[in-house]
Amino acid sequence: MKSKILGMSILAATLSFTSFAQASNEKMMQAAGQEIFKKCSACHSTDASKNAFGPSLVGVINRKAASLPRFAYSDALRKSGLTWTEANIRRWVAGNDILVPGTRMRHVQITDKAEQDYLIAYLKSL
Ligand code: HEC
Repeated sequence: MKSKILGMSILAATLSFTSFAQASNEKMMQAAGQEIFKKCSACHSTDASKNAFGPSLVGVINRKAASLPRFAYSDALRKSGLTWTEANIRRWVAGNDILVPGTRMRHVQITDKAEQDYLIAYLKSL
C-alpha cells in the first residue's frame, strides 16, 4: 500500500514535468501498472511458461483471446472472437463478465482511464 502511494506520487510528479523524457514517463507508467497488477497476480503469472488459475498474460496485447494451448478456457471466451487490443483490454478490466458473459474469470472492475493506461503499459512490458 505504501509503495502504491509512493508509486502514484512519483508518477504524478513525473507527469507534471511534461518536458521529462518519454522513456522515464513510460517507466513510471509501468511501475504504477505493476501495483495495479497486484489485483490480477493471484491468478495470472508473469512467467510465459506458466498458467496459474488464469492464463499467462505475457504477450497478451494483440493476442487472440483464449489462444494459449495449455489453458482450459471457458467456452464463452473461446467463442468470443476477441483479440486483446488495448481497447478490448480496457473493456475487459472495466467489466469482464459484461464483455464476455459466462467467462470463468472472477469479476474485476477497473474503470479509471489512468489506471487502465498504467495496467496496459505494464502488460506491454511483460
Ligand atoms: C480470481 C482469478 C483472476 C483474477 C483476480 C484475474 N483473472 Fe484474468 N483470468 C482468470 C481466468 C480463470 C481467465 C480465463 C477466463 C475464461 O476462460 O473465461 C482469465 C482470463 C484473462 C484474460 C484473457 C487471456 C487470454 O489468454 O485470452 C485477460 C486479458 C485477463 N484475464 C486479464 C486480467 C487482468 C488484467 C486482471 C487484473 C485486473 C485479471 N485478469 C484478474 C482469472 C483471474
